[in-house]
Amino acid sequence: MKHTITLIPGDGIGPEIVAATVRIIEATGVDIAWETHIMGAQALEKYGTTLPEDTIESIKRNKVALKGPQMTPIGKGFTSVNVGLRKALDLYANVRPVLNLPNVPSRYSDVDLVIVRENTEGLYSGLEHTVIPGVVESLKIVTEKASMRIAKYAFEYARKHGRKKVSCVHKANIMKLSDGLFLECFEIVAKDYPEIEADNKIVDNCCMQLVMRPEQFDVLVLENLYGDIVSDLCAGLIGGLGLAPGANIGEQGAVFEAVHGSAPDIAGQGIANPTAILMSGIMMLRHLGEMEAGARIEKAMLEVFAEGKVITKDLGGTAKTNEFARAIVEKMNTSSAAA
Ligand code: NAI
Repeated sequence: MKHTITLIPGDGIGPEIVAATVRIIEATGVDIAWETHIMGAQALEKYGTTLPEDTIESIKRNKVALKGPQMTPIGKGFTSVNVGLRKALDLYANVRPVLNLPNVPSRYSDVDLVIVRENTEGLYSGLEHTVIPGVVESLKIVTEKASMRIAKYAFEYARKHGRKKVSCVHKANIMKLSDGLFLECFEIVAKDYPEIEADNKIVDNCCMQLVMRPEQFDVLVLENLYGDIVSDLCAGLIGGLGLAPGANIGEQGAVFEAVHGSAPDIAGQGIANPTAILMSGIMMLRHLGEMEAGARIEKAMLEVFAEGKVITKDLGGTAKTNEFARAIVEKMNTSSAAA
């Protein structure tokens, strides 16, 4: 079956890691037509808007996109297009698996958890204003509708993937109304899934527990900001941001992207680790029903890690982005020749 997929190369290291991923996906032989689009600063310069209608329409039509990271200016300039895209398409569930890879130096060897981040509201609602000079207000929006649906998504995910426990992460001791509602919805939804253990943790304690004993976690469901921060913490548990994939899922489509950003400090050098976006690509292939292609890439990637010869700089090696991609393609070809 032929798939049409929206491709957004992104900023900074985006085009480098996206090209490497496309090369590996194409080596599986899956029939894909890529529709390349831009957003963010590039689109602002070309079309005068950061989120062009063309890009949104392409994702709505194709229902699937592979996206590189987008730069967001700090403290000034345009608002995040990542947040804008997730809202525009109502991509309410941000799913981020965190798993140890063979041979990758990290503090732990038994991390296997999944972050389910609410993607459309909380403190990322973008409702900020200056009350009087020197005083600003940022609104945190929590709705019953979004809290129920993200809790349901987390439990459905757990059921589908054979996960045993879902933990709700919150700060309901302080934000009694907003986080209180998030937790209350979680507890209501949990009753429909008696076979799955449900517990809850205050976010600060959760961070400490993650750093001390990550193996106790299975699926975590969090509000937008906590999910963002805890995702990076979890990437740190398994060897860094170059290894953490993600998917933004909604009824109108799914956008697959790495947890990390555009890494301006290493952009243009051809040294970025493409693993995170490649693993997002594997998630995308599975979402499309291309199980065999996803499994082939995953197997080859794990073998390359296990051999430990072709390793990118962030993990202590010297391989360039395209050398790493080539090693995976070669491994896939050798495996199919042997089969
Ligand atoms: P970052 O994730 O881009 O980089 C943090 C550190 O991790 C840097 O030292 C970087 O070199 C390293 N790193 C990240 N990805 C890597 C990879 N694949 N291989 C090797 N090293 C890697 O975070 P930062 O610097 O805070 O943000 C840079 C820009 O990215 C900002 O404009 C931010 O808004 C944007 N951003 C975009 C995201 C998205 O598009 N989904 C997510 C996070 C940040």
